[in-house]
Amino acid sequence: MCGIVGYLGFREPLPIILDGLRRLEYRGYDSAGVALNRNGCITVRKSAGKVAELAAQVESNPEYAGARAGMGHSRWATHGEPNDVNAHPHVDCTGRVAVIHNGIIENYAALKTQLQHRGHVFASATDTEVLAHLIEDFLRTTPDLYGAVKASLREVRGTYGLVVMDAHAPEVMIAARMGSPLIIGVGEGEHIIASDAAAIVAHTRQVVYLNDGEVSEVRPDGMRTSTIFDVPISKEITNVTIELSQIERGGYEHFMLKEIHEQPETIRNGMRGRLRVEDGEVKLGGLEHVRDKLVQAKRIVLIGCGTSWHAGLVGEYMLEQIAKVPVEVEYASEYRYRSPLVGKDDVVFLISQSGETADTLAALREAKRHGATVLGIVNVVGSTIPRETDGGMYVHAGPEIGVASTKAFTSQLTALGLITIMIARAKGLPREEANVLTRELASIPDKVARVLAQSDAIKQLAQEFKDSRNFLFLGRGANFPVALEGALKLKEISYIHAEGYPAAEMKHGPIALIDEHMPVVFVVPKDAIYEKVLSNIHEVRARKGQIIAIANEDDTEIDKLADHVIRVPRTYGFFGPIVNVIPLQLLAYYIAVARGTNVDQPRNLAKSVTVE
Ligand code: F6R
Repeated sequence: MCGIVGYLGFREPLPIILDGLRRLEYRGYDSAGVALNRNGCITVRKSAGKVAELAAQVESNPEYAGARAGMGHSRWATHGEPNDVNAHPHVDCTGRVAVIHNGIIENYAALKTQLQHRGHVFASATDTEVLAHLIEDFLRTTPDLYGAVKASLREVRGTYGLVVMDAHAPEVMIAARMGSPLIIGVGEGEHIIASDAAAIVAHTRQVVYLNDGEVSEVRPDGMRTSTIFDVPISKEITNVTIELSQIERGGYEHFMLKEIHEQPETIRNGMRGRLRVEDGEVKLGGLEHVRDKLVQAKRIVLIGCGTSWHAGLVGEYMLEQIAKVPVEVEYASEYRYRSPLVGKDDVVFLISQSGETADTLAALREAKRHGATVLGIVNVVGSTIPRETDGGMYVHAGPEIGVASTKAFTSQLTALGLITIMIARAKGLPREEANVLTRELASIPDKVARVLAQSDAIKQLAQEFKDSRNFLFLGRGANFPVALEGALKLKEISYIHAEGYPAAEMKHGPIALIDEHMPVVFVVPKDAIYEKVLSNIHEVRARKGQIIAIANEDDTEIDKLADHVIRVPRTYGFFGPIVNVIPLQLLAYYIAVARGTNVDQPRNLAKSVTVE
């Protein structure tokens, strides 16, 4: 979702800002803009469409050279359609103050009316523009920009990651955060403000993370921070560990393909130092201090959105069946508003790739307010969820740039597998039984690699189905969430309508859709309910549906029923979904490529959904 880059220092700002915006493209956006502070005057250029279109207008244009400070933004429209006017930066009517903003100003309509009564004239349909006018209004009575921004933010309700420039103060930039991430990169004689470390790491690894309610006055050679109520805060400089190569495509056509192929390694990374295979033991440093709580929990609640919610659904099978603890899985967006019955005997896990999803964060706070132990299963190190939870674990998938989540999902499942074994062991699962599970988990990266080796065959299959209008994905047990995930991947990046169902539910409705034009993907490993799923396959076959089966390597029965079979290795102990989802990721990817869609940045989607 929207990206922010601000630069203040001894270098020309524009190339740094454009490079930063390009690195944030993966977050999803529909327009972009820059503002540069030159000779006490702010020059703005905005454009609907991609950063490349903006760059073509400003790069090598002398009007945008020689600036002292500058900022850029990529916007994902919330209030007002994506066009040149609604793109950020926004300026007040005198042209003195420019702002870029991620988030939503909830009381913007009331503020706008007040400002209009005071003579302010608005150019856009956005909520953000009120901030520029409000700050300019305060500057009439407040000595400096820092004070004017804080005074303005005390009037504002909503969420923001905000950067502000004042034409009269080219040596200063203000950064403020409430519910939308903002990071300040600290260099020698320069600072870079960004919504994501990806825009910073090419320049410096030293960063300061702003917390909610904090405002920083940033200068080339230093910064100071306080709350919006003027209480000074001393900020710690930390080191970002991601490498530049991790956020580059490394020879793959798309980030998504690179990330799909990284999975043997990312799954291994998630287990490294945690899984003691021969002892049947799991050590999780971030959960050690809440181990007793986990073991004694009356209930575990798993909360997430989208793909992370699907991971929770698989986790439910693992935890209930192996660790013998009752589990509930909740959509974060629903949980936050339904006064959940949750309390101190419950352990709540928030599952999130980005660690910034607004709904998941709100669910975290709701569960915490009720006294539950709140823990995170998160990918992005240093993001907001791990900073607000009582503990948790990073899944260590590395930066995920493709908007459609792939490697984060399999890493979340790996993390849930580790947590399951840890609890089961602490509850008395004998070492020999635990050892079967730890060995199985340790074997997953190689099994995933075996599926990836079939990429070419899946690519060919994709050609055959690229013009389908609908798809059905069916699975049972822990593979039902795999069916949901397969359908989500396909619809996100290929724009083909797809639904996932528990296979046996098909006859309660979706069966009406089956005819010779309907491809039906069955996830059908040889497990305890294999025969049952075969019956469902017969039902589809009888209605001439086209059957694609994800089946085990040693399954000979399936060839008689399915039109196409993709083979996956057998996997035991509810870890099968980690392997079985891989062909579905590849199928979605190759169908999208065959249809010519923008795989890494599908329309209307954002990588990290930081608004409600
Ligand atoms: C799907 C996808 C989304 C996210 C969801 C939650 O491919 O990427 O459904 O899974 O927006 O995001 P996180 O995990 O960052 O909280």
